[in-house]
Amino acid sequence: MRISVIGCGHLGAPHAAAMAELGHEVIGVELDPSTCKTLQSGRGPFYERGLDELLGAHVPTGRLRFTGDLREAAEFADLHFIAVGTPLSADGQGYDMGQVVDAVGSLAPLLTRPCTVVGKSTVTVGTVARLERILAEHAVEGVDLVWNPEFLREGHAVEDTLYPDRIVAGVSGAEAQKAIEAVYAPILARGDVELIVTDPATAEVIKSAANSFLATKISFINAMAEVCTLAGADVRSVAHAIGIDHRIGHAGMRPGIGYGGGCLPKDVRAFAHRLGEIGATRAVALLEAVEGVNRGRVEAAVALVEETLEGRVAGARIAFLGAAFKAGTSDIRNSPALELADRLRALGAQPVVYDPEALENARRAHPEHSYADTLDEALAGADVTVLATEWPQFSKEPGLPAAAARAVAAPRLVDIRTVVDPVDWTVAGWSVWQLGRPVRRPQA
Ligand SMILES: NC(=O)c1ccc[n+]([C@@H]2O[C@H](COP(=O)([O-])OP(=O)(O)OC[C@H]3O[C@@H](n4cnc5c(N)ncnc54)[C@H](O)[C@@H]3O)[C@@H](O)[C@H]2O)c1
Repeated sequence: MRISVIGCGHLGAPHAAAMAELGHEVIGVELDPSTCKTLQSGRGPFYERGLDELLGAHVPTGRLRFTGDLREAAEFADLHFIAVGTPLSADGQGYDMGQVVDAVGSLAPLLTRPCTVVGKSTVTVGTVARLERILAEHAVEGVDLVWNPEFLREGHAVEDTLYPDRIVAGVSGAEAQKAIEAVYAPILARGDVELIVTDPATAEVIKSAANSFLATKISFINAMAEVCTLAGADVRSVAHAIGIDHRIGHAGMRPGIGYGGGCLPKDVRAFAHRLGEIGATRAVALLEAVEGVNRGRVEAAVALVEETLEGRVAGARIAFLGAAFKAGTSDIRNSPALELADRLRALGAQPVVYDPEALENARRAHPEHSYADTLDEALAGADVTVLATEWPQFSKEPGLPAAAARAVAAPRLVDIRTVVDPVDWTVAGWSVWQLGRPVRRPQA
């Protein structure tokens, strides 16, 4: 099929590349000229595993190309994915729907033959009805709108697009359903992915409900971490033991500094706001509690660092490992790691930040911090080491604890992501602090 992807950010760029991989002819439309140029040169504008490989394979053949010209896309494609951003509005309550309304509003008058518009952005419940009115008013007859929310995990965007857990399509008619079946035909042909066809309002709620449930699970185990700190218990054992129950499960049950990034914080906030508007008061109370727990996590991490340093935070040199909001991405939007670095700096500490992929973004957005170009440089002479993003090279590389222990001034590790095995580290001479777990010290 000939398709377009409008908005080529963290969702749209991997989606465009994956659609080309499935065999479609794809044109990506991106407003930002520098992002557009980077993509057209066959490289990703951010780190996302597998993206460079797909761009490198399909841009040179012409099967995938990028432009800033929406008219070119309208003329070329029979199906248009909308993948523009939905940030929080200026008052921090609902979404700022400007990018979505602008994209559909600009595309509508350019559509001169029947086609399908497929929304992938995460939107407020009720958006489809609003966009249908725009298309009915400004486009030719026969333009269908489908809502096809995206569930990909950043850091696994390419893999999750090519091998999704499910595909959800909120459709208003049979033609729209046929278009969705055609564009995802190579995935559906494998026979292991369910296509869930529903009405548009249900598709909108499915996406918001999925993110809210994930956030709830994260906040639940983090609330248990708080309980364990006060009760002298070990939250890692609690998570393991309760997760064995199939009704609960282990996924998403790792305690730590809480959720961040470009999706969960804004999606939970915007859903809670919308639920308030439609009068779902108990659901609002649930989501506000989830947000409250999440907000408290940075505070809990600050307290742990203070405990490690026996209160002497001012002037302490901190090897600060990680800036990305999670491992696998260079994305620093709402990064709990950087929020913690900010808080520690405000207390007079000197965090020296290192991240294998997000350094450039962090340097640009937070020039106030000190940065190290290598892990060794960050560790040199540190009074405490904070593992702030769960990159495997910080926890799993054989020999890292012992080599790192030789570089730092004091082998004290604060692992706010609960990823290291304290046994390995204490054997190498470290004391290890994790949220909701007893402190582990080297054997005398
Ligand atoms: N990032 C994720 O992991 C993820 C996962 C699932 C869903 N989503 C949802 O996908 C949407 C996009 O998220 P993102 O993280 O990719 O945001 P992003 O900010 O990284 O990307 C949005 C891109 O759209 C471009 N854009 C805006 N208006 C445009 C227009 N009219 N024409 C062409 N380009 C335009 C922007 O320049 C930007 O590059 C959001 O609704 C988000 O909630 C994101």
